[in-house]
Amino acid sequence: MRKSIVISTLLAVVLFLGSFGVMAQDGITIGLSMDNLRLERWQHDRDIFVERAEELGAEVLVQSANGDDMVQLSQAENLITQGIDVLVVVPHNGQVMGSIVREAHANDVPVLAYDRMLMDSEVDYYLSFDNVRVGELQAEFLVERQPEGKYFLLGGSPTDNNAKLFREGQMNVLQPYIDEGKIEVVGDQWAKDWLPQEALSIIENALTANNNDIDVIVASNDSTAGGAIEALAEQGLAGEVLVSGQDADLAAVQRVVEGTQTMTIYKPIQNLATSGAEIAVKMARGEEVETNGAINNGEYDVPSILLTPVQVHKGNMVDTVIEDGFHEMEEVYKNVPESEWPEQ
Ligand code: GAL
Repeated sequence: MRKSIVISTLLAVVLFLGSFGVMAQDGITIGLSMDNLRLERWQHDRDIFVERAEELGAEVLVQSANGDDMVQLSQAENLITQGIDVLVVVPHNGQVMGSIVREAHANDVPVLAYDRMLMDSEVDYYLSFDNVRVGELQAEFLVERQPEGKYFLLGGSPTDNNAKLFREGQMNVLQPYIDEGKIEVVGDQWAKDWLPQEALSIIENALTANNNDIDVIVASNDSTAGGAIEALAEQGLAGEVLVSGQDADLAAVQRVVEGTQTMTIYKPIQNLATSGAEIAVKMARGEEVETNGAINNGEYDVPSILLTPVQVHKGNMVDTVIEDGFHEMEEVYKNVPESEWPEQ
């Protein structure tokens, strides 16, 4: 009798602790602090990250701050007090969230900056795509098609260090054309929190100010490209003005095959999120993490793992996004007559 009481009591304790997500199969608990889950891509990141981490026997506690800095800070602090073994952060504001690294380290919790850098901090690793290269790929695609003309620079969120890296890459390509007077920059504004509605009003105002005389919009991601294209459509210009993007969101790849968005950048989230989970588990176990670069964050050159981004356009949609299973053919070409679909 006594033995069965002991066993059932122990079982109850384990189940009780497990219900708070404190326990993990092999004892590893990962805290994943995300800026928001608004954009489709971050939902992919979360789902793939959690799936891979659980395959490796770890538990993941996910928190989304819905774009609020103070909320993200307190959520991350709470994860640390819950006894996580490693903290993974997608910061809404890389400057603000850099401060969580000190608190994590004070609790012997290593920190991975996921996709976006944690600035002015001793963050342990940075995992992202080569975001300067993202900007170069966007601008290269545009200048190949429009080497002369009026360009509007539509930047991303000013609080996101990536937005600055994309712009750095874009200017690496555009500056020589500007210096030669071939490209005229008719405007340069940044969309708060990458919001489509911010991009919509920026481009509505830009079209008014320039009497609709804009040839190219250098948009840094798909959500802002979508807002810009809505503004163009209001003036009957959708498809007439080149627009770049990034993330290969479903709405964006549909626009690309339908001809209103010129291109997007595919960053295989499968690779990013899977690597993120694997790196986090290694960090929790104190194992060596292989890096292929170092990115300065204002404090030091952070050991980094940078993945390769891919230009996606009408001509290679099947060989990239569809081949990878990121989106289905039927989804991407939903609004295109089947007779016009490319060979798969
Ligand atoms: C950036 C990211 C981009 C895009 C953007 C909007 O940090 O690198 O790929 O997702 O956020 O969320």
